[in-house]
Amino acid sequence: MSCKSPRVCVIGAGAAGLTTIRQLQDVGITNVDCFEKERSVGGIFHYGTHKNGVYDNAVLTISNYLMAFSDMPPTGHRHHWHHSEYKAYLEEYARRFRLHQHIHFGATVLEVRGEPGQWQVKVMLVDGSVVDHIYDAVAVCSGAHQAVNQPNIPGLDTFTGQLVHSSAYKNNTPFAGKDCVVMGLGESGADIVREISEVARTTVLALRSYPFLIPRLVRPFNENPFGCPSDAFTSHLHHDLLHVQRSRYRRLKHFLQRVLFSLAALLFLLFPFLGRGREKPEKDAFNQDTSKVFLDKDTPECQSSYHLIWSWCIRSGQIGHPEHREKFACKNVTFVKHVVDGRIQTNDSGISCIDGGFVVFRDGACIKCDCLVMCTGYKDVFPFLKGNVGLTQTPLAVPEGNVRRLYKHIFHPEVGATLAFIGFVRPTTGGIPACAEMAARYFALLLSGQRRLPHNVAELTRFEHDLDTRYYRLSPDVKTLVGYKDWMDSMAELVGCEVELMRYVLRPKLFVRLCLGSLLPSQYRLRGPGQLPELSAATILSVPVAMTPMESAGESWRCWLRHLGIRPLCAGDR
Ligand SMILES: Cc1cc2nc3c(=O)[nH]c(=O)nc-3n(C[C@H](O)[C@H](O)[C@H](O)COP(=O)(O)OP(=O)(O)OC[C@H]3O[C@@H](n4cnc5c(N)ncnc54)[C@H](O)[C@@H]3O)c2cc1C
Ligand SMILES: NC(=O)c1ccc[n+]([C@@H]2O[C@H](COP(=O)([O-])OP(=O)(O)OC[C@H]3O[C@@H](n4cnc5c(N)ncnc54)[C@H](OP(=O)(O)O)[C@@H]3O)[C@@H](O)[C@H]2O)c1
Repeated sequence: MSCKSPRVCVIGAGAAGLTTIRQLQDVGITNVDCFEKERSVGGIFHYGTHKNGVYDNAVLTISNYLMAFSDMPPTGHRHHWHHSEYKAYLEEYARRFRLHQHIHFGATVLEVRGEPGQWQVKVMLVDGSVVDHIYDAVAVCSGAHQAVNQPNIPGLDTFTGQLVHSSAYKNNTPFAGKDCVVMGLGESGADIVREISEVARTTVLALRSYPFLIPRLVRPFNENPFGCPSDAFTSHLHHDLLHVQRSRYRRLKHFLQRVLFSLAALLFLLFPFLGRGREKPEKDAFNQDTSKVFLDKDTPECQSSYHLIWSWCIRSGQIGHPEHREKFACKNVTFVKHVVDGRIQTNDSGISCIDGGFVVFRDGACIKCDCLVMCTGYKDVFPFLKGNVGLTQTPLAVPEGNVRRLYKHIFHPEVGATLAFIGFVRPTTGGIPACAEMAARYFALLLSGQRRLPHNVAELTRFEHDLDTRYYRLSPDVKTLVGYKDWMDSMAELVGCEVELMRYVLRPKLFVRLCLGSLLPSQYRLRGPGQLPELSAATILSVPVAMTPMESAGESWRCWLRHLGIRPLCAGDR
């Protein structure tokens, strides 16, 4: 599409909607209307007692440098934001880039139908009136929390206790002194089961599979004696090691990258200052004293916690299996201490039925239950997409409600570039908003006529769908999952902002941090459309490499072993 000044509708003013407006502005598309049903920006992080998803004490699992957009990086101490701090960040983003002028608050999109380039959008305004608009393009940024996944357990209708979904959980007060069963262990479950177990009479955690657990703080290593966020280890080098088998990179490109990683590791080994920070932080990423060792917020390191984490990771099926297969990573281990001290009992046999006030498990255990808390996640739904499009009369709805049926989780192959789904990419480690930003950059370039969708978009979508479905088969319900580096790098190729490591060899400090340091969204602003080279370089240089020189050398060595087809054994290796 290359219409001169397309009129664009953006649905939702959460992180994804905001960055979409911003990226459209950046390519000169200013005829944008964003409809947001709430009265503020921030999406799920616009906290309210009537609003679902975020609870009082929610602290993000991803650290600020990976949660922030590349055009407004944070400065200073790397840490995990409380949900209110992230909301403040989003408000500042909207203010700084004057996004409010495009947003209509209290406006709910009821219907989107029509044809590519001629979308009819029906909106209910705050006074209840309904208006129709026509747009050239629509960006669906309605978020992944619009409908809960509530498993249909036999006998649930006979349950005499209180049934709660995690989306409605705010704090543990209502659970004091009760017998509680918490079902599911994603990041919501991990926080909620811990909080409930601190006040409940009994707490049983009902699992149907074991999570792959990654502590939010990584054990201090040699010269890095501070509680570093585990996502600081998401470097090009580290991801290359993990994802090489599924990567679609051409072999030669991969080979050259590995040569560069090895060069960077050697430079770091010889001249450690290239990757080091100026001073050692006194606080870890949860502002805890670095003289003590923590695995997570308020979670001191201890042998028994380590054993439990490791044994659950093995039971998740991700480690020690001959085939490469992944599960979403639960990056919250705050609950582990209460499994160790017995406050949380676990049952992994699966719930077979509910019988009045009892939960019956498949292993025959029958547990008295006052409160059944389902931390079972969400479904991707788009109730406002109506009708069919084109000669083939393709339904506008996302096929099977599965965003992997969309090209890069963004474009319906039959519909094309004028309808984009932004915010439906969940990287295994890394921030959803940064991925939304990258998707929005591509959408903006397509609308402004600077890029075109690949001619074989349907074929590519099928290929990636099959690949990801196979790869993430341990988490079959989470269709949004992608590998962070793989997805970002492949999008960067489409946008034209790939990180060309070779260009920076003569700037060794930047080069070392690009190869071995955290994979910051800023890396994708060094060059290409919308480039911000000074800001990006300054951000990258301000963040020290989390690995020690010896660890970097070890990882680079393991990369080569893998290149030669030898599977090295290491904690993160699958
Ligand atoms: C407790 C918690 C912690 C989290 N921590 C992290 C983290 O550390 N890292 C991470 O990457 N992700 C995290 N997430 C996931 C988080 O939801 C996403 O990163 C983020 O919200 C994505 O933004 P979004 O704009 O896509 O969706 P949302 O934030 O859900 O925003 C969607 C917006 O669309 C609006 N909307 C929906 N339908 C309509 C309609 N029909 N008409 C008008 N408006 C509509 C909604 O009101 C909402 O404002 C966390 C989630 C929770 C619940
Ligand atoms: N602190 C934070 O940053 C934070 C906090 C909360 C949420 N979040 C984010 O919010 C999003 C949603 O997280 P979430 O934890 O609500 O959902 P989620 O990640 O989708 O996890 C859902 C959990 O429910 C289990 N489950 C689903 N159906 C089940 C069934 N029928 N029986 C038993 N168990 C079942 C799943 O088990 P299987 O693995 O077996 O499928 C999984 O453990 C994610 O993006 C997450 O990162 C972040």
